[in-house]
Amino acid sequence: MTDLAGRTALVTGGTRGIGLAITRALHRAGASVVALGRSEERVEALRREYGDDGRMRAELADVRDRAALERVRDTLGELHILVPNAGVATRVEALDLDDEALRTMIDINYYGIFVTCQVFGPKLLERPGGRCVMTSSISAIHGQKLRTAYCGTKGAVSALVRALAVEWGPRGTTVNAVAPGIIRTPLIQAYAEANPDRLEAGIRNTPLRRLGEPDDVADVVLFFASDASRHVTGQTLVVDGGATAGSDWW
Ligand SMILES: NC(=O)c1ccc[n+]([C@@H]2O[C@H](COP(=O)([O-])OP(=O)(O)OC[C@H]3O[C@@H](n4cnc5c(N)ncnc54)[C@H](OP(=O)(O)O)[C@@H]3O)[C@@H](O)[C@H]2O)c1
Repeated sequence: MTDLAGRTALVTGGTRGIGLAITRALHRAGASVVALGRSEERVEALRREYGDDGRMRAELADVRDRAALERVRDTLGELHILVPNAGVATRVEALDLDDEALRTMIDINYYGIFVTCQVFGPKLLERPGGRCVMTSSISAIHGQKLRTAYCGTKGAVSALVRALAVEWGPRGTTVNAVAPGIIRTPLIQAYAEANPDRLEAGIRNTPLRRLGEPDDVADVVLFFASDASRHVTGQTLVVDGGATAGSDWW
């Protein structure tokens, strides 16, 4: 089992879905975890769940708000693991996506990830051994209708991973990403419930024949956060049950 005792991790979007699974997995592995989210209710729920455990902090911070992230940073001691994970998705045809929705998507999914790295990066780089693990998506490599803006932002995250790995590698910090496929979280819940046939098609077209669970992704984040991945950087590792490996419908 991965042992992260003595390490401190920060997870954006760490209060729900994949981020919450990452938060819990890092905590189970012994790390002290700071989870950031936008919803007061979910931040409070996490605080209540872990009580005065001493290794879990939940804070309100919108990743588009540099000053809010800086306020959190200023309360931290050391930081060893950074997980820029917060993201949103919509399903709209490219030609119908209005300006506000487009800018919001880019602001959260790319600017928010970039600013998180800018604000917390210096702490990560204070000593060798830092780990940055972003959440990209199969949408970075797999074109999907109704998700054009989302695909673009996730492609940008995977490009950022490579470029930041080049800048931070000489300082001993690795930068990688996980690229989840279809994962059972609130992000896809409404669409999945309204379109059970699409969900079935998704499962049918996945070689491992099931949906992903948040823990499937969190376990790979643990690998990137641990010493086991010490010579791996600049990579995006797909966690999709084989959905992008190929198809057997023909
Ligand atoms: N689920 C999938 O199938 C799937 C597939 C590929 C990639 N991903 C990626 O995985 C990541 C997590 O997705 P998820 O499925 O876990 O979604 P989710 O269940 O909707 O959770 C998203 C998390 O991000 C937070 N968040 C959203 N906007 C934020 C902002 N502006 N500032 C701070 N926090 C913000 C949310 O906080 P609040 O709850 O407080 O709003 C929540 O904690 C995203 O980057 C997503 O693109 C998901």
